[in-house]
Amino acid sequence: MNKRIVLGITGGIAAYKACELTRLCVKAGIEVDVVMTEAATRFITPATFQALANRPVWTDLWDAREPKSMAHIEVTRGAAGVVIVPATANFMAKLVHGAADDLLSTLCLARQPGSPLLVAPAMNVEMWLQTPTQRNVAQLREDGITVMGPGSGAQACGEIGDGRMLEPAQIFGYIEALFAPKILKGKRFVITAGPTEEPIDPVRVITNTSSGKMGYSIAAAAAAAGAEVTLISGPTHLDTPAGVTKVSVKTAKEMFAAVQQAVTGANVFVAVAAVADYHVANYSERKLKKDERHPGLTIELEQNPDILAWAAQQKGLFCVGFAAESHDVLVNAEAKRKRKNIPLLVANKAQDAFGQDENEITLIDDAGRHPLPRGRKADLARELITHIASKL
Ligand code: CTP
Repeated sequence: MNKRIVLGITGGIAAYKACELTRLCVKAGIEVDVVMTEAATRFITPATFQALANRPVWTDLWDAREPKSMAHIEVTRGAAGVVIVPATANFMAKLVHGAADDLLSTLCLARQPGSPLLVAPAMNVEMWLQTPTQRNVAQLREDGITVMGPGSGAQACGEIGDGRMLEPAQIFGYIEALFAPKILKGKRFVITAGPTEEPIDPVRVITNTSSGKMGYSIAAAAAAAGAEVTLISGPTHLDTPAGVTKVSVKTAKEMFAAVQQAVTGANVFVAVAAVADYHVANYSERKLKKDERHPGLTIELEQNPDILAWAAQQKGLFCVGFAAESHDVLVNAEAKRKRKNIPLLVANKAQDAFGQDENEITLIDDAGRHPLPRGRKADLARELITHIASKL
């Protein structure tokens, strides 16, 4: 079956980002039928999208090209979804009311039941915060339409705030998810990711170099496979993946408390976080001062709770652990799996894994070792999710 989406473009300056999104889709083997509103063509020409998508672009409700029937019906049939990038405040208002006064709004209204519609709002912060816009966004969500973002930051108008469109790579994550088989439908996942921070005094912490990339990739892959995902994350610079609920924490104790709360009713716990094994016992309420007379300074450490070992004792919860080892990776990992009493452990070399976009992992379970060749963390995450699904 051909992979195909309908990409709707409405009239906002963020329309230029839809070019990059089209390129990402085409590169991934997804056919893109671009439909532009009249206002969108004021920002970018249809010829640009035709060149990128290598397919004709639709702009006119009265276009006679569709041989079988009418473009407003046929273009969406057989497509995995309609994705509006960018979606203006005006276009969202039209969707809320079922208005159909141009090709794009008409084909949104004419799509079949259950056919996904996703919108990426992009507008000035004041337009975004206005009561009518907020009311319309709430209504779109209620109608089952996926609202992607928006993010926050510097805007084309020079103002700063909410209403900035998500980046093409983030929107692409939502599109990839449209095509993933829903092998985890009805399952609830709790995933920890990133480093923890253990404070020494009000401004200093002990932490590690985990970037959170592996944990976030697993959360994205689980959500794309239809799972309900809670991601409990230490401090990272990563965007929350599509369809994932994120809980931000700092210390190992905060992470433990968040996990204890989140696992009620969950089916799977994946411990990817690089949790600090110790916290500072002699935390100083005051910022520590350099003392010339005492060149040495001792920080006392106390052990943190082992979150994964606790989770492994919870009935009905399938636990997956990670072992980041610097030496004797597989032997140490196998011992760790037995010690923590968990069905599935992912072994990797700490030096290769931390902060990198790629990794090399071995899955270890009762059936033995399953090495996965070196690859992008996003691809490894999908393979891990398929393996977990087969064990449930
Ligand atoms: N982990 C956890 N809570 C901790 C420490 C670790 O949930 N307080 C989880 C990690 O998320 C990972 C696994 O346990 O899934 C392995 O952690 P690691 O630090 O590699 O192993 P340790 O059990 O701490 O053993 P060691 O430090 O001896 O390697």
